Amino acid sequence: MKFLISTFTASIIFASSTFVCADEIQGNPQNGEQKISMCIGCHGIAGYQASFPQVYKVPKIAGQGAKYIASALNAYKKGDRRHPTMHGIAVSMTDQDIADVAAYYSLLGKDEGLKLSDDPSVAQPEVAALIQKGACTSCHGSNFNKPLDPSYPKIAGQNWDYLFVALKSYKLGIQPSWGRNNAVMSGVAKQFSNDELKMLAQYVGSQQGEIKTVAQSKFR
Ligand code: HEC
Ligand code: HEC
Repeated sequence: MKFLISTFTASIIFASSTFVCADEIQGNPQNGEQKISMCIGCHGIAGYQASFPQVYKVPKIAGQGAKYIASALNAYKKGDRRHPTMHGIAVSMTDQDIADVAAYYSLLGKDEGLKLSDDPSVAQPEVAALIQKGACTSCHGSNFNKPLDPSYPKIAGQNWDYLFVALKSYKLGIQPSWGRNNAVMSGVAKQFSNDELKMLAQYVGSQQGEIKTVAQSKFR
C-alpha cells in the first residue's frame, strides 16, 4: 500500500502539468480527490452491481484516460448517453469538477511497473472474425488498451457485462431512459447480433488491461 500511495503522489506531480481536458480546462487531480464522495459508493466498490437497465457490474474507471472520462461524463450530462443516475450526477458537476475528477481517476491505482503485451491473447476464430469485421483494434489499440485518440476508451479488462450493456446501448440508440448516441460506435454495434456483441464483450473483458476498481474507502 505504501508503494501504491507513493507512486500515486509521484504521478500527480508529473501529471498536474500535463493534463489538459476537454475545452482546454486543466484538471487538477488533488482537487479531484475532494470531489469524489459522490462516486465511491458505486465506482469504489469492487464488483458493485447496477440494476438498470439490467443487472451488471458498474464500470471500472480508475486508470481510464482522463479525456475519455470527461467525454463520458459530458455525454451523460447532455443526454447523448441516457442513464438516470449518471445523468443526475453529471448535471451537478461543473466543467472544472469534471476535469478534476477525470484527472484524479486517470491516475488512481496506476501501476507504473505493469507491462502489457501489445498483442491480445489469441481469440477463437469465431471471435477473431467479429473483431476483424468491426475493426475494433484500429481505434481501441492492438491490445484494446492503447486507444488511437485519448478521448477513446481503454476497454481491455473492463467488466464484460458492462461492455455488453454499453454495446447494446449504442446499437439501440437513444431511448427515453437508456441508450447511447455515438456516431462511431452506433455504426459499429449495429453490424452485430446481440449474441455476437456478447462474445465480443466477453473476449475484450477477459484481456489484461490498466483499468480497475480501487476500493476507495482505503484512500479516505
Ligand atoms: C449509483 C451508482 C453510481 C454512482 C454514485 C456514480 N456512478 Fe458512474 N456509473 C454508474 C453506472 C451504473 C454506469 C454505467 C452507465 C451506463 O450504462 O452507461 C456509470 C458510468 C460511469 C462512467 C462511464 C464509464 C465508461 O467506461 O464509459 C464514468 C466516467 C462514471 N460513471 C464516473 C462517475 C463519477 C466521476 C462519479 C461521481 C462524481 C460517478 N460515476 C458516480 C454508477 C454510478
Ligand atoms: C472508428 C473507431 C472505433 C471502432 C472501429 C470501434 N470503436 Fe469502440 N469506441 C470508439 C469510441 C470513440 C468510443 C467512445 C464513444 C462514446 O463516447 O460513447 C467507443 C466506445 C466503445 C465501448 C464503450 C466503452 C465504455 O467504457 O463504455 C465499447 C464496449 C467498445 N467501444 C467496443 C468496441 C468493439 C468491440 C469494437 C469492434 C467490434 C469497436 N469498439 C470498434 C471508437 C471505435
